[in-house]
Amino acid sequence: MSNDWGFETRQIHAGQQADPETGARAAPIYQTTAYQFRDTDHAKNLFALAEVGNIYTRIMNPTQAVVEARVASLEGGTETAIGIPGALALSSGQAAETLAILNLAESGDHIVSASALYGGSYNLFHYTLPKMGITVTFVDDADDAAAWQAATQPNTKAYYCESIGNPMNNVVDIAKVANIAHSNNVPLIVDNTVATPYLIRPLEHGADIVVHSATKFIGGHGTTIAGVIVDGGSFDFAASGKHPMFTDPDPSYHGLAYWPALGPGSYIIKARVQLLRDIGASISPINAFLLLQGLETLSLRMERHFANANAVAQYLAAHDQVESVSFAGLPTSQWHEIANHLGGGRGYGSVPAFEIKGGLEAGKKFVEALELHSHLANIGDVRSLVIQPAATTHSQLTPEEQASTGVSAGQVRLSVGLESIEDIIADLDKGFAAAAV
Ligand SMILES: Cc1ncc(COP(=O)(O)O)c(C=O)c1O
Repeated sequence: MSNDWGFETRQIHAGQQADPETGARAAPIYQTTAYQFRDTDHAKNLFALAEVGNIYTRIMNPTQAVVEARVASLEGGTETAIGIPGALALSSGQAAETLAILNLAESGDHIVSASALYGGSYNLFHYTLPKMGITVTFVDDADDAAAWQAATQPNTKAYYCESIGNPMNNVVDIAKVANIAHSNNVPLIVDNTVATPYLIRPLEHGADIVVHSATKFIGGHGTTIAGVIVDGGSFDFAASGKHPMFTDPDPSYHGLAYWPALGPGSYIIKARVQLLRDIGASISPINAFLLLQGLETLSLRMERHFANANAVAQYLAAHDQVESVSFAGLPTSQWHEIANHLGGGRGYGSVPAFEIKGGLEAGKKFVEALELHSHLANIGDVRSLVIQPAATTHSQLTPEEQASTGVSAGQVRLSVGLESIEDIIADLDKGFAAAAV
């Protein structure tokens, strides 16, 4: 196989065909740091973006490119003017969020975000971005259109939300929030980790950019930390008049003005050639390969995750040791209707949370009595998982901040896995029996 593994051939791989030279069916793992240039002109052209090809694995890698092409395809991401995928795979979900925002906002700018977020995202927005001069206003009720508008400032550069909030299990009316974002000339970024594109494709509902913690359902097997950004190509950075990062020349890239030169897809190209180049939150080739193994079975796994989660939510809702259940699959959820609208009834996520009677102490006994469920800080694994967010994932937040992200002291969050539903329920029975003592 030549060392000039072009994007065209990689796209063939992305289309699930065998490698024409070797017949290999799986994408190869290109465990290399750099790529040999044909000659000095080739080297110069690659660096000038006059020709597209591999330079250095911090910025691109052929195994990574297959992941990017497939996730872009699943989410309905844009094509780019230079033929690279409309997605960018990164070292973690946090890295994806950080780059997605730094690609739009710099010191002096502002973001509006729903507050119902994964705790790590909340920390990033509440503490770390402000240290970089980017302030964030949180909207506590993501359904309240007036609250999004009221939070918007002249220096606002993006809106942000999770399609299904972790762990609140609220489902955001993406079209409604996108409309307000667009009327303020800013793009909407949606974290689609919990829903996955099998359930919700945010770009179809007006979102402009999607981010994933691919660590969760995309990888699916609890082996790999990774993230992905997908560019819908829908946001016009020139018409907005608010994004000079895209319309002014970039002195760090030969004076390239991304939007005038590259049009739709500029967002993801800039994220790669400018921010990934400089910040270096790259995915390793072997982790990209592991994501590809997960993607092969995403739809099958999601069907089973959703079916099991629905059964677990019903079991919890009927249980006399349960105060309340957060899960949009229950007809009693205030988000049931919008979840059906966005997900077509295919499912409602598989990360239900519930408030156990007896609060934090009962929750501890419950968690410790489980045997099938792994007690760990993750979601989206094939195995069933359990955690108390207030004591772990959201523990660095104050009680008020926890409440705004949808976390309470006695809350237990499950990530419902692929085991048989009888085994899952039998394990939960053990937990409730221990918590009753
Ligand atoms: C919804 C959501 N977004 C982002 C992240 C962060 O992803 P990572 O842990 O891959 O950095 C997580 C992690 O739990 C998450 O649940």
